[in-house]
Amino acid sequence: MTTAPRIHRATPDEAPEVARLAELTFALACPPGTAPTAIERFIADNLTEVHFRRYLADENRQVILATDDGRPVGYTMLVHGEPADDDVAVAISLRPSVELSKVYVLQTHHGVGVAGALMDATLDAAREGGAVGVWLGVNKHNERAIRFYRKSGFEVVGSKTFLVGPELHHDHVLEREL
Ligand SMILES: CC(C)(COP(=O)(O)OP(=O)(O)OC[C@H]1O[C@@H](n2cnc3c(N)ncnc32)[C@H](O)[C@@H]1OP(=O)(O)O)[C@@H](O)C(=O)NCCC(=O)NCCS
Repeated sequence: MTTAPRIHRATPDEAPEVARLAELTFALACPPGTAPTAIERFIADNLTEVHFRRYLADENRQVILATDDGRPVGYTMLVHGEPADDDVAVAISLRPSVELSKVYVLQTHHGVGVAGALMDATLDAAREGGAVGVWLGVNKHNERAIRFYRKSGFEVVGSKTFLVGPELHHDHVLEREL
C-alpha cells in the first residue's frame, strides 16, 4: 500500500465490488477445519451481489468501504436495531445498539492500518445513525480479530452461536460504548 486508504460509504452500484471482496475474505474469519462446502454455502446464502444490493438499499444498514488506489481492500457493515439473537439481547447493555456485522480486510492489507481507519469511520457512522452502543460476534478461535477489537475498545460481554452452512460455530459477543 503506497497511500492512506480512502474510506467511504458504499453505494448500491458498488454491490458487485463489495460482494467480490466479501467472497474473497469470508474464509479468513473461519477457524481451521471449517469445511470448504460450509464456507461456499454461507457465501451463496449471504454474500452474493444480490444480497449486497439488498443490504446497500436497506436504510437500517451502512456499508463502509476502504479502497487502495481505487481497489476495494476492506469493508464493514453495520445493522441498526434490536438484536434478533436472544443470547446477544441478554448480553449487551447499551441501547440503542448497532451490530458491527462484518469487518473484513484483504490479507495483503492486514497490519498496515486499513482496519483501524475502517473501524474509526465505522464507529463515526454508527454514532451518526443514532446508536450509543455497538456489538459484534467473533469466533472464539479468531485471535487476531479479537486482539484488533480489544485494541478498538471492545470488551467480551457474552457468547453466542453462529451457523456457517450446516456447522455450528461458537462466538464471543463483544460490546463498546460509542
Ligand atoms: C480482523 C481484521 C480486520 C483486523 O485487521 P488487521 O489489519 O489484521 O489488524 P491489526 O494488525 O491492526 O491488529 C491485529 C492485532 O492482532 C495481533 N495478532 C496477529 N496475529 C495474531 C494471533 N495469531 N494471535 C493474537 N494476536 C495476533 C497483531 O499483532 C495486532 O496486534 P498489535 O497491533 O497489538 O501488534 C483483519 O485481520 C481481517 O480482515 N481478518 C480476516 C477477517 C476477520 O477475521 N474478520 C473479523 C470477523 S468477526
